[in-house]
Amino acid sequence: MTQIVIHGGKRLFGKVEISGAKNAAVAILPATFLVDGICRIDNMPQISDVSVLLESMADMGAGITPVSQVATEIDCRDLRYREPKAAMGEIRASYYFIGAMLGRFGKAKVPMPGGCDFGVRPIDQHLKGMRAMGADVKVEDGHVVAEARDGRLHGANIYLDVVSVGATMNIMLAAALAKGKTVIENAAREPHIVDLANFLNAMGADVRGAGTSVIRVFGVDSLHGGSYSIIPDQIEAGTYLAAVAAAGGDVLVQNVIPRHLFSITAKLIEMGAEVLDMGDAVRIRREGKLHCANVKTMPYPGFPTDMQPQIVTCLSVAGGISMVTEDVWDNRFKYVSELQKMGANIHVDGKSAVIQGVEALSGAAVRACDLRAGAAMVIAGLCAKGTTRIREIHHIQRGYEGLLSKLQGLGAEIFEQEEAE
Ligand code: EPU
Repeated sequence: MTQIVIHGGKRLFGKVEISGAKNAAVAILPATFLVDGICRIDNMPQISDVSVLLESMADMGAGITPVSQVATEIDCRDLRYREPKAAMGEIRASYYFIGAMLGRFGKAKVPMPGGCDFGVRPIDQHLKGMRAMGADVKVEDGHVVAEARDGRLHGANIYLDVVSVGATMNIMLAAALAKGKTVIENAAREPHIVDLANFLNAMGADVRGAGTSVIRVFGVDSLHGGSYSIIPDQIEAGTYLAAVAAAGGDVLVQNVIPRHLFSITAKLIEMGAEVLDMGDAVRIRREGKLHCANVKTMPYPGFPTDMQPQIVTCLSVAGGISMVTEDVWDNRFKYVSELQKMGANIHVDGKSAVIQGVEALSGAAVRACDLRAGAAMVIAGLCAKGTTRIREIHHIQRGYEGLLSKLQGLGAEIFEQEEAE
């Protein structure tokens, strides 16, 4: 097995280019099922979650033609109705095939989603939405099986009991070609929701209000092909900002939308980093010691849960006592035991972590428990004294394009190595 090895304690300098957003790409790819034409998608992140989706789509008959390093043409005109490949059950975004297949074929059979383990991850709000739109839905043998009673979904008013990114986007997918108007109340407002709406509208859909908590989708009879460029990844950008905050240095994070990063940069400024908005880039500089801060994760525009492990890592070397409250997922502190192996002083009680900053972390053998926990281990390794070895790095490869080369470009001593048996 391959592990990541980091010789820590080097400050980071230079420029880093942010890739397309994972959580937008994994919804936009299934959205191409709905399109009667060729979609050219630019700024596609080269990550394993995207490869798993593309493989499954190709298996269903989608024509997939890479046209450059980051652009792909997708032609779903000859898509066949069949169950997506089993590997889809390993990623969270497999649930978007439910909405996309219902919209395209009027039926869907999709493995129950996998992804990172944060305790219970229900999809009841997705299924409630599909049912309201006229689908019979059951869960059997580890699959979601759904069928539109009239062959085509119809519009409906759907109130989400929890603000759910996945349910909001899945219902948008199902509604794009449904008959009539769908209203999603208490919708999530993340940048990737606006990106999916923009993609669908670029192909001829009529989605209004994305980015607010009420989204209206006026169903159309068909979508046409076109070109679309995926937004930059808010969390990848935030991860590099956190890495510089923790390790120190001066870095220009390029190809970002700074307003998507406000909750993160505001917190890093509060902690003592200098952050400059450069239009389509953010410059971060950290010289002195970081200060403690309190953080609570929330749906957008709040502080993103997907940055929680990275900010906890920064706070573990900040002066003073910080409290981080996880308000989105039930159990997203599993990685803390790994940080403790590196000398972090963190006490977790339910949904809160109390962090007493230490002078420095020290390198250790740790594992990437999940995608963002893996990113947190990398940040810990970069700022720690000595050598850190991170196992189970496939989690990190799910969501960070070229992580090693990007960090090497900033002067980090980070490389892959085969684990000794
Ligand atoms: N929830 C329900 N019922 C549902 C759906 C969600 O109770 O039907 C609850 C969840 O248990 C959770 C909360 O609602 O407590 C929010 O869940 P949400 O549906 O928003 O999460 P998701 O769509 O499954 C996406 C991202 C996650 C990110 C969350 C929150 C994708 C593929 N995944 O998950 O990203 O943490 O939104 O922003 O878009 C990551 O990228 O590392 C990652 C885990």
